[in-house]
Amino acid sequence: MTASRDSNRVIVFDTTLRDGEQSPGAAMNMDEKIRIAQALDEMGVDVIEAGFPISSQGDFEAVRAIAGLVKNAQVAGLSRAADRDIDRNWEALQHAKRPRIHTFISTSPLHMKYKLQMGPNAVLEAVGRSVARARNLCEDVEWSAEDGSRTEADFLCRCVESAIHHGARTINIPDTVGYAVPDEYADLIKMLLNRVPNIDKAVLSVHCHNDLGLAVANSLAAVKAGARQVECTINGLGERAGNAALEEIVMALRTRQNSLPYKTGVKTEHITKVSRLVSTITGFPVQPNKAIVGANAFAHESGIHQDGVLKHAATYEIMTPESVGLTKSNIVLGKLSGRHAFKDKLAQLGFEPDDAELNEAFKRFKDLADKKREIFDEDIVALIDDSRSIASQRIRFVSLQVVAGSKGPQLADLELEIDGKVENVQARGNGPVDAIFNAIRKLVPHTAVLQLYQVHAVTGGTDAQAEVTVRLEEEGKTVNGQGADADTLVASCRAYVHALNKLLVKREKREPPAMTATAR
Ligand code: KIV
Ligand code: ZN
Repeated sequence: MTASRDSNRVIVFDTTLRDGEQSPGAAMNMDEKIRIAQALDEMGVDVIEAGFPISSQGDFEAVRAIAGLVKNAQVAGLSRAADRDIDRNWEALQHAKRPRIHTFISTSPLHMKYKLQMGPNAVLEAVGRSVARARNLCEDVEWSAEDGSRTEADFLCRCVESAIHHGARTINIPDTVGYAVPDEYADLIKMLLNRVPNIDKAVLSVHCHNDLGLAVANSLAAVKAGARQVECTINGLGERAGNAALEEIVMALRTRQNSLPYKTGVKTEHITKVSRLVSTITGFPVQPNKAIVGANAFAHESGIHQDGVLKHAATYEIMTPESVGLTKSNIVLGKLSGRHAFKDKLAQLGFEPDDAELNEAFKRFKDLADKKREIFDEDIVALIDDSRSIASQRIRFVSLQVVAGSKGPQLADLELEIDGKVENVQARGNGPVDAIFNAIRKLVPHTAVLQLYQVHAVTGGTDAQAEVTVRLEEEGKTVNGQGADADTLVASCRAYVHALNKLLVKREKREPPAMTATAR
């Protein structure tokens, strides 16, 4: 059933790669954006907003690459109302199977006066001009009224009418600052449906920020009032308090059909996997009690609840864990499993590594199987994520020996391979992790500042693999590195090295590709 034919079908527009990436520290590289875009496409979102092409060369290239790769979803790029923004957007999008230009301008009195320093007539004129220009390039154009929820009603109606008149097929009314409350926001949607004469020629869309914790409630109220596109992000990632969380909207629609009789095309069984992917890549952890994707979302701690669930799951479970892709951890492979079984398992989990990635991952799997009796799907996912990035790294982890414990001093003896040459160093620190990071700094001097160090256990048990995220910041640019290992200290070292490799790639884009930092 296509979105446009069924009046109860809600279009899911994911903006994790654009608005989500605007969260400070959530910057992603091209490879990471592509992995997320592919996962979103497989999950069945209708539109993937891949970036803001004029904002940087990196964003432009990511949008272009995603446009060329995505098979099913529409791919959108964002642009302001200026001609060069729109043209650059189209340059990035034009090879998409189903491109969409998304263009916006602020319409609230506050934004027009202070941000744009434009009067209402100039803004209205810019709406028509920008939509017409976009429509000349691309059949599918979305127009957004930034700060729409704080816009004066008559003016909003005039802008919307003009955008539709000039060819916009989707009209988005963002609650940019997360100020709206559900009934008021629903009334705004109804008002537009009642008053704008050509509104039947467009889909009304909503885009809610979560400053008051109401983004999902506002989005659902708007759907009930007649909006048929929701803009959202995985895990509610986004500027400030974030955007409406895709998984919450989609599961509310699926679970509460009696009150919300609408459908989406999202295969909800993919939700957990995509949520973890976004969290690992961005280094933004999901709080344990987060709806749908938090670690405790389906856990029953109290005896009364456990008893109830055992007697009948529906006593305390309104959704099944399986409906969001949460399955019981499977013991998948063991010490004796061969390369063929390993490759098959990767294929089942949706990975198709190239030969170098497969070799690295298989070696790591064998090492892990020596240390850990039972290897689960989650372990394999962590290993392959880690091995993928290693294949192309200039700095590689070789070995680590650490002296830790309460007596001190803590000491790290580290070997790294730097541009093909193995180097060794020892360093002390205030604790083992500090000693390891000091050792890395000795081998690869750099000025980047550590912004985040985060550890999480991939599975249960004391022999669980640790997955570590390290965020480094240099000259205003941030990178996230990940590392997984049964030894938390080795995982920490791998994560730091991964982040450093990404920094080198960023630097190479600015400078000639010489290793600027080694201590040799
Ligand atoms: O929050 C907002 O207003 C936006 C628009 C640019 C769509 O992100
Ligand atoms: Zn936004």
